[in-house]
Amino acid sequence: MKHLLSMADLDRDAIRTLFTTAAEMHDVQRREVKKLPALRGRTVINLFFEDSTRTRSSFEIAGKWLSADTINITGKGSSTSKGESLRDTVLTICAMGVDALVMRHSASGAAQQVSQWVDAVVINAGDGTHEHPTQALLDAYSLERALGGLEGRKVAIVGDLTHSRVFRSNVIGLATLGAEVTAVAPPTLMPSGVEAWSHQAGFAVSHDLDEVLPQVDAVMMLRVQKERMAGGFFPSPREYTVGYGLTRQRLASLRPGTPILHPGPMNRGLEIAPEAADAAASLVLDQVSAGVAIRMSVLYHLLAGEDATA
Ligand code: NCD
Repeated sequence: MKHLLSMADLDRDAIRTLFTTAAEMHDVQRREVKKLPALRGRTVINLFFEDSTRTRSSFEIAGKWLSADTINITGKGSSTSKGESLRDTVLTICAMGVDALVMRHSASGAAQQVSQWVDAVVINAGDGTHEHPTQALLDAYSLERALGGLEGRKVAIVGDLTHSRVFRSNVIGLATLGAEVTAVAPPTLMPSGVEAWSHQAGFAVSHDLDEVLPQVDAVMMLRVQKERMAGGFFPSPREYTVGYGLTRQRLASLRPGTPILHPGPMNRGLEIAPEAADAAASLVLDQVSAGVAIRMSVLYHLLAGEDATA
């Protein structure tokens, strides 16, 4: 595997290899001196055309701890805001001698397209509503550590699934690792064609959060992505919360200790109550810390030549 564009690029062994390295990187993260020489002399560009806190900074930290030179370029501060095409922008950047391009873009398929234009390794850090593979990796890694294994475990993924690349990558990744996913959303926020897709990909679909919650081993809440919504997907924020929020009342219907995940950024009070976000069983900050370890592992395997999927 040269690039990481989709969770479908990774079979179970490849994911296991990435997790093993991530666990070692996780140990490095706890040291006082966090530098490893593995990617010395390599250059990693973070090219972000959409806003990001966690993903961009964790890729930057991951690159730095592996001794790569990392540079951040954002859409707003780059020549794309002067009308330069995506192709010209990436060819320009790569002409400087870049080894890896970590890319976030609002167009689904953008990373795949760019991978055909450049020689550098391309890592998809979120392409529109399509995929976000390193997020799915860090989610599965965090969950596996919390549950002690994913085989046969029931995971509910709840929220604005129509607009969620995190959902799409997790459906693929969790199925590869043997977990049983139930997708929960109001009909208006369920991706079109979900029936056929769920049969093919092997996940269940529900519109009834209260029925699903008592049965699951973990629950992943996803953000209501207002910036991708042109019209009314639900009558009011209050009604969304009543139907699909992980409220304080709903917390009580989970089995004690059930891990709660959210990739962030959270809309507190909309899809997740503060009591849930800050619960003892919340993995939200574990996900962030695992994000650095996972991205170190991905950069290491793609750049240091040891092919994770070989
Ligand atoms: C997600 C994203 O950007 O797709 N966030 C993230 O990477 N931490 C989910 C979201 O924006 O809701």
